[in-house]
Amino acid sequence: MDDNRIALIKEEIKHYNIHTFNDLEKFRIKFLGRKQGLINILLKNIKNIPIENKKIYGKIINGLKKKVQEKIKNFCSNNYLNVSKMVDIDPTIPGKFSEIGSMHPLSIIKYKIIDMFMNIGYSYVDGLEIEDDWHNFTALNIPVSHPSRDIQDTFFLCKDKSILLRTHTSSVQIRYMKNHIPPFRVLSIGKVYRNETISSRSNFMFHQAEGFYIDKKVSFSDLKQTVHYLIHSLFGKVKIRFRPSYFPFTVPSAEIDILYNNDWLEIMGCGMIDPIVLKNVDINSEIYTGFAFGVGIERLALMIYNLKDIRIYFENDIRFLKQFTSEF
Ligand code: PHE
Repeated sequence: MDDNRIALIKEEIKHYNIHTFNDLEKFRIKFLGRKQGLINILLKNIKNIPIENKKIYGKIINGLKKKVQEKIKNFCSNNYLNVSKMVDIDPTIPGKFSEIGSMHPLSIIKYKIIDMFMNIGYSYVDGLEIEDDWHNFTALNIPVSHPSRDIQDTFFLCKDKSILLRTHTSSVQIRYMKNHIPPFRVLSIGKVYRNETISSRSNFMFHQAEGFYIDKKVSFSDLKQTVHYLIHSLFGKVKIRFRPSYFPFTVPSAEIDILYNNDWLEIMGCGMIDPIVLKNVDINSEIYTGFAFGVGIERLALMIYNLKDIRIYFENDIRFLKQFTSEF
């Protein structure tokens, strides 16, 4: 190892006079230049160093390299005003601040629900907003003549009505169940569409969360427990009522009301997945049972944030939007 040479280079780095950016560039090339730079030449020499000295030699060279870099850095930070003169900018002008936005209230609720269900072992999947008739209706035991097709009238994307904007997230159940073998617990959240007049309580588009759980021996009490978990995590201690109801794809079915400002408010539908639906997706209903629930996010957010009109979510009024933080 050529100790003398290394000591000389070290001295040279230390005493190199840099006054201008030209000097700086010369300094950089002299020591760090790719081909003729002194540091690189020393590094290339490493192959001639006896193996027991290689490590220490490498360390010394790296030390030199650091010294060069430090000198460059120091010059730049002491001379940044001159840099600006060279490239014609004025660093004393205050910067333009771009405002950091806040999360949309519907997204806050969405992520809160995802979090809650991740904690109890659910997986999250995205579904399709453009669906076909089979996944949205027929496989869910809603045949063509069924009256609930009227309530869930939607936007059809072709004349024969075979492709449409999904009316509920229950179509995700079908897609998932067809491609997976139970047991599974799944959550999906997304936009759904209906042919509705816009008013303070309804819109042609809203968001739903859908959960479903299939395994051996899943029972209605598991469903009740899960609904209680969802509602109580969102609202704290509130009164909940299970009201018998009807959905073509669940049996028995229930709607859930919560006591809000002294009124029972309907907030979600649920039930045990109908064996006919399981058959449609090739799951043996003699072995497996399951439950499903669907809940509207807009409705939840109205209650959580004490809002009166769902149109406010989509007006993009910054005064409204910036009030929300992800803690509630
Ligand atoms: N899909 C139903 C709706 O949109 C809600 C629901 C989901 C009901 C799952 C039962 C089970 O109204």
